[in-house]
Amino acid sequence: PRILILGAPGAGKGTQSANITDEFDVDHITTGDALRANKDMDISDMDTEYDTPREYMDQGELVPDAVVNAIVDEALNQADGFVLDGYPRNLEQAEELQDMTDLDVVLYLDVGEEELIHRLTGRRMDPETGDIYHVEYNPPEDPEVEARLEQRDDDTEETVKERLRVFRDNTEPVIEYYEDAGVLERVEGEQAPDEVWEDVKATIEDAA
Ligand code: AP5
Ligand code: ZN
Repeated sequence: PRILILGAPGAGKGTQSANITDEFDVDHITTGDALRANKDMDISDMDTEYDTPREYMDQGELVPDAVVNAIVDEALNQADGFVLDGYPRNLEQAEELQDMTDLDVVLYLDVGEEELIHRLTGRRMDPETGDIYHVEYNPPEDPEVEARLEQRDDDTEETVKERLRVFRDNTEPVIEYYEDAGVLERVEGEQAPDEVWEDVKATIEDAA
């Protein structure tokens, strides 16, 4: 299936995308991971304000559309089924996506702001596997893993607040866009991870 997963920063897109790729035969296309792996690439020839994605990301701002559109276009061309995570984040990107591919299901993980802040400031990443943890909700069992966990550069309180503002201003209209099109499948994201997964899985199975 061709799956789009929408949600605010910290809503659980990455966590549920990992479940989806385990269960269904699809690629995980994530603009956030792709940009983090290429934070220092030179984008100055694309007529951007800053020379690399890093400046945008560390401040919680959106990386320019031209850069992100190119990443998604290339990834979609190589994928059969996919779960797309982190894109589209504004209406221009949503229109771009419409020209690039059809979608079978559009999920929206609905989580309130207070919980989002708690999840983001407590998130830890395993740099070796890319696995996502949380100091309270989902700590690793293996002390060796725990010792190497890292915090994402943009998970500081100040940047989190800016990311949530960018979400409200730019990405909430995208949620409305799919809602108005009658294709948005809202999932209650403020449940335990396993319960969210049950709902996500059932929604995909119904749509596919
Ligand atoms: P990106 O990497 O996409 O970040 P984001 O959208 O802010 O989302 P996150 O990855 O922070 O959260 P998530 O929803 O994946 O949650 P997770 O599963 O990790 O983008 C980063 C930056 O890149 C942007 O700010 C921008 O600069 C740039 N960028 C990316 N895409 C772009 C685009 N299209 N255009 C322009 N710029 C772009 O979970 C969070 C935490 O909660 C974890 O600790 C997890 O363990 C925990 N958790 C998850 N589910 C639950 C649950 N059910 N209960 C309790 N805890 C849970
Ligand atoms: Zn993510």
